[in-house]
Amino acid sequence: MTSAPTKSSTERRTRSGAGQPSWPFVIVANRLPVSLTRRKGEKHWTTSPGGLVSALTPIAQRAHGAWVGWSGSVDDRLEPFEHDAIAQVPVTISRQDHHDFYQGFCNRTLWPLYHDAVQNPEYHRHWWRSYVAVNERFARMVAETVQADGAVWVQDYQLQLVPALLRALRPDLRIGFFLHIPFPPAELFARLPWRRQVLEGLLGADVIGFQTERNRGNFLRVVGQYTRAQASDAGPIRHDGRRLQAAAYPISIDFELYESVALAPDTEPRVERLRQRLGSSRKVILGIDRLDYTKGIDHRLRAFHELLLSGLVKPSDAVMVQVAVPSRERVAEYAELRRRVEELVGQINGEFGEVGVAVVHYVRRNLTPENLVAMYRTGDVMMVTPLCDGMNLVAKEYVATRFDNSGTLVLSEFAGAAEELTDALLVNPHDVDGIGAAILSALTMDPVEAAGRMAKMRAIVRGHTVHDWARSFVADLVPARQRRSILGG
Ligand code: G6P
Repeated sequence: MTSAPTKSSTERRTRSGAGQPSWPFVIVANRLPVSLTRRKGEKHWTTSPGGLVSALTPIAQRAHGAWVGWSGSVDDRLEPFEHDAIAQVPVTISRQDHHDFYQGFCNRTLWPLYHDAVQNPEYHRHWWRSYVAVNERFARMVAETVQADGAVWVQDYQLQLVPALLRALRPDLRIGFFLHIPFPPAELFARLPWRRQVLEGLLGADVIGFQTERNRGNFLRVVGQYTRAQASDAGPIRHDGRRLQAAAYPISIDFELYESVALAPDTEPRVERLRQRLGSSRKVILGIDRLDYTKGIDHRLRAFHELLLSGLVKPSDAVMVQVAVPSRERVAEYAELRRRVEELVGQINGEFGEVGVAVVHYVRRNLTPENLVAMYRTGDVMMVTPLCDGMNLVAKEYVATRFDNSGTLVLSEFAGAAEELTDALLVNPHDVDGIGAAILSALTMDPVEAAGRMAKMRAIVRGHTVHDWARSFVADLVPARQRRSILGG
């Protein structure tokens, strides 16, 4: 997507002559749904990476609301604009914020801490100060953007202080917060030197949403431990004379959209071309992930390598395709993961590939929606094996594209999606032998059994889409009369 944004009504409505903000519904996330890059001085907009953006874009489009976030480029001072039928309200992130807030506190403190500390989290006071300052900036921008008695939906770990900061500025608003990543067990959360401040930030919301009941339970436990709020498993939380709700709202995808792209006439020829390039008689084992150390990419490559070494899988029978979407590349742990993955791919191909015939195809880029769906349709075995993951929408997207009930999903027990997709082949992603065994069973599964499992998973994803997710959250957040305008009927 490289089309140019327009100014349209957005600018007028956020900075109107009378200085009155006028959006009734505002989504706030660290990133805008589109990211700015500059090539030869020209601006290009591309879809931002990650599950958050893919889930919320259809909601924002239906709601005709505004989206407050960062453009993805540092030191930019952009005016509000409209793009993809969404009013985009940019917040400036300086080079220093990028270092201390984004790469530091968000992605070297909170991200590893909230993902089971699979990498060691670092705690630095200047990173925390930057986190506070950037959250304050977001809260001020939202306060200027949303109309009286409007509703605001704050997203994810980068903005946990915004609910309380915004409430202090605008007590008239209804404020929701949704955490897309896991909320960690109390023993891990307790390490955070600023644990009380983070909890008090979240408690500024009226509704706090988590991916799973387990995450909600973890949260209630630490609220009881580290704040003065009264929290119990049943009933609302009481804090500061207010009642607020914490609940699980498992996120999902736009099932119909993925299915319709899968059924579109130009998808099958793309799939055919991919199959021919990969070798028509070989089964395709597929992984599609952000290049992130929580995703277990290296573990799954090792499992495939061992299957080849054991001779249980032959290069003429199966091929692995790993699509890795570049992510947080300046953070050291991500650079190290990339090095490890690329070394493994090289090693496996060196040992088992032939000239012109690879056993692992590694593609490090973002795919267009059409190519993504063609890739899903090409995968006979889909590997979604994160070490820890809030939900994982790739698993649900794959299922939505398998309209003929073909294909097998191998899914980590530690992805939120495993609570719903119990007909996948569930694996412990740390267990390299277990992953290998799951790959083997997927490759050899009786087609009738595979189709039965896929049909059940499809019914589950079809029965709870991203629109249902948004509807249930918004129903808890705003009074009935406001819901219709937000959810578009
Ligand atoms: C995950 C997070 C999102 C984040 C996305 C991409 O999906 O939950 O909050 O936006 O990854 O990561 P990035 O650091 O590039 O925004």
